[in-house]
Amino acid sequence: MSTKAVSAIRRAHDLGVTHYDTAEMYGWGAGEQLVGRAIKPFRDDVTIATKFGMTKQFGVNSHPDHIRQVVDASLVNLDVDHIDVLYQHRLDPAVPIEDVVGVMADLVTAGKVRYLGLSEATPDALRRAHAVHPISVLQTEFSIFAQDAIPLFPLLDELGIGFIAYSPLARGFLTGAVRAADCYERGDFRQFMEWWNTPNFHVNLRIVERLAAVGEERGVSLPQLALSWILAQGDFIVPIPGSRNPDRVAENIAATDVELTDDELRRIADIAPHGAHGDRGSPSPWLD
Ligand SMILES: NC(=O)c1ccc[n+]([C@@H]2O[C@H](COP(=O)([O-])OP(=O)(O)OC[C@H]3O[C@@H](n4cnc5c(N)ncnc54)[C@H](OP(=O)(O)O)[C@@H]3O)[C@@H](O)[C@H]2O)c1
Repeated sequence: MSTKAVSAIRRAHDLGVTHYDTAEMYGWGAGEQLVGRAIKPFRDDVTIATKFGMTKQFGVNSHPDHIRQVVDASLVNLDVDHIDVLYQHRLDPAVPIEDVVGVMADLVTAGKVRYLGLSEATPDALRRAHAVHPISVLQTEFSIFAQDAIPLFPLLDELGIGFIAYSPLARGFLTGAVRAADCYERGDFRQFMEWWNTPNFHVNLRIVERLAAVGEERGVSLPQLALSWILAQGDFIVPIPGSRNPDRVAENIAATDVELTDDELRRIADIAPHGAHGDRGSPSPWLD
């Protein structure tokens, strides 16, 4: 188990972070075990989110029995007596959302779960789910590179649902550390992402250079600019950047002190009016 990743989580806690996100599929139990071990000394001061509903073949499974089994395993992996936020990781076309949320609501009644969330859900699914049991949060990809969740915001406002922005650094593209796809290990997910394809990669690299210049003028790093842009989009949005590196964690947290000016936001909008070139990693079912 990575000691560095545990240190990264503990550094985040020292710097005031109170929410940690994981999922069954992040290492099929290993990610949850790591988070559980890292937060053990301060478990009561923080909230933990985990997710069910994916299969090892990258399919989906929200069958009621499967949900119950996965949640019981997550409680063991995390070594906690309740999960603060339970997400369905992806909609399952084979199981009506009402049935899924019905099982999730039973888990709340049983004391195993506190709050419910959906990830990458459609407006229709959100409304139907919310009618069965309050949905507290929607988690969806959102960054300067992936802006297609914006049309969902009025519905979240109407229903009083918070928004968790995942991959807020565009899976590492919005950092000074991005490299061409073939520089990563063979089979790395970036080799399958349009942002890293030719010719998109070079166009997106140019966008990153121009964004970094805006950050430089302001005296903030590119990841800090990317995170403060998200924070400027609404006070119901919480970005969850991922890093195994304690110093990068500290750098990212410092973005909470950066309030971008209207002029800086306008310049970012000019540079990336609709996000990156190429589709993001997950399809956007609400745009179909
Ligand atoms: N609901 C879903 O379907 C879903 C899907 C994907 C992700 N997520 C959640 O969102 C979280 C974050 O997403 P993500 O990890 O895909 O993407 P991300 O946060 O956009 O980017 C993470 C990448 O950026 C690097 N990085 C982070 N901070 C940096 C900094 N200051 N300077 C340079 N590089 C930096 C990390 O490398 P190092 O580790 O080396 O720092 C890592 O390669 C995940 O941990 C997960 O909890 C949810």
